[in-house]
Amino acid sequence: MAALAVGIDVGGTGIKGAVVDIDSGELSTDRIKKSTPVGAKPDDVADVVAAIIDELEMTNNEPIGICFPAIIRHGRTMSAANVSKKWIGFDAQTLFENRLARPIHLVNDADAAGYAEQQFGAAKGRNGLVVMTTLGTGIGTALINDGVLIVNAELGHLEIDGVDYETKASYAAKERDDLSWKHWAKRLQKYYGHVEALLSPELFVVGGGVSKHHEEFLPLLDLQADIIPATLRNNAGIIGAAKLAARDVERR
Ligand code: BGC
Repeated sequence: MAALAVGIDVGGTGIKGAVVDIDSGELSTDRIKKSTPVGAKPDDVADVVAAIIDELEMTNNEPIGICFPAIIRHGRTMSAANVSKKWIGFDAQTLFENRLARPIHLVNDADAAGYAEQQFGAAKGRNGLVVMTTLGTGIGTALINDGVLIVNAELGHLEIDGVDYETKASYAAKERDDLSWKHWAKRLQKYYGHVEALLSPELFVVGGGVSKHHEEFLPLLDLQADIIPATLRNNAGIIGAAKLAARDVERR
């Protein structure tokens, strides 16, 4: 029988989940997606997560991993990107565990996506430092060194030219400023060049919905490290959260 775990990916616009085969990284159920409740307040988000868990076909023993757009420390969400500010400093793990009556594993969304790409996707088998970046409403980042995830890197907020550079180089910034691929690539060059100067990674993996258009902008970047598109796309968070939850259970 396949080893299964549940992954839930909480985002500013949608919350999605599926059961994952944690040996292959494949989804073993359809993905369920629901809208994030307006305001994305803790209790309302927990209700949607519970509704998704109810709909998934599972035996009730699968580990549950939840990824979330925040710094996660000891089960608390220490920041809040595109969700209610009520999450800041909030004991999110206890909220979800009480609501679901089950233990859960809570992890930053980019960390989950990066771990999934390293285990099953674009960075599989790559050693050295891999920097995962998700280009969406913000810039999420994950550091994985020789397969070991170093959690809570917030390199999307690096200050460049005096500004939090996620506000310049995220996909939302491209849309907001109506940038051509070429103009956006100039900002990406500045961003990735800066990260490269600080960390000298072996590989950058670029995720987020826009990564399906990677041919439009990745070839315009000039870096020493390889820079490649993510392969798990929209499922990376779900898969990584599930895999990390299963790892957490094994370690207990
Ligand atoms: C947040 C990160 C998150 C990323 C992607 C950033 O604004 O600070 O914690 O991983 O957005 O959602």
